[in-house]
Amino acid sequence: MGSSAGVRSVVAKALPSASKACMGSVSDVTLNITFVDNDGNRASVPALVGQTILDVAKTHGIDLEGPCGGGGGAISVQRTAKWHDTTYGEGPLCFFCHVQIPSSFNHLLPAIGESDDQGLEDVWQDEVTSQSRLACQITLDKKHEGMVVYVPDAPPTDII
Ligand code: FES
Repeated sequence: MGSSAGVRSVVAKALPSASKACMGSVSDVTLNITFVDNDGNRASVPALVGQTILDVAKTHGIDLEGPCGGGGGAISVQRTAKWHDTTYGEGPLCFFCHVQIPSSFNHLLPAIGESDDQGLEDVWQDEVTSQSRLACQITLDKKHEGMVVYVPDAPPTDII
């Protein structure tokens, strides 16, 4: 028996049954995704459930810009039928974190919002495809294990 198995056995015996039910393993909250850059270089990296694709890219030094972090824009909120409000510090603003996800993962991704789609087109123009997403708006779950994320080149500099 390895030492980690021995430790698990001792801990499992010492804990009440309710605590045993809560015990998970690291593999319950980790997954792997693969980034592919514009030159075709691939980097398969570990990620945590709950991180965004942008979080994972920053953690592993992947060249993916995202200065607003997904929480820098003004969002129009309909409070009631007559009360329309604008909140700040919520939602995407920069639209720099453009990634493209293969269509085989489409069913695992949230629908892209109209304003996100428009923001991507404003910044990335012809490079936007039906696979385009904002990396800051995709929160990872176990179901994303093995997902491939293509990172296009930087946005056109003449509009920044
Ligand atoms: S980081 Fe700014 S829109 Fe995603």
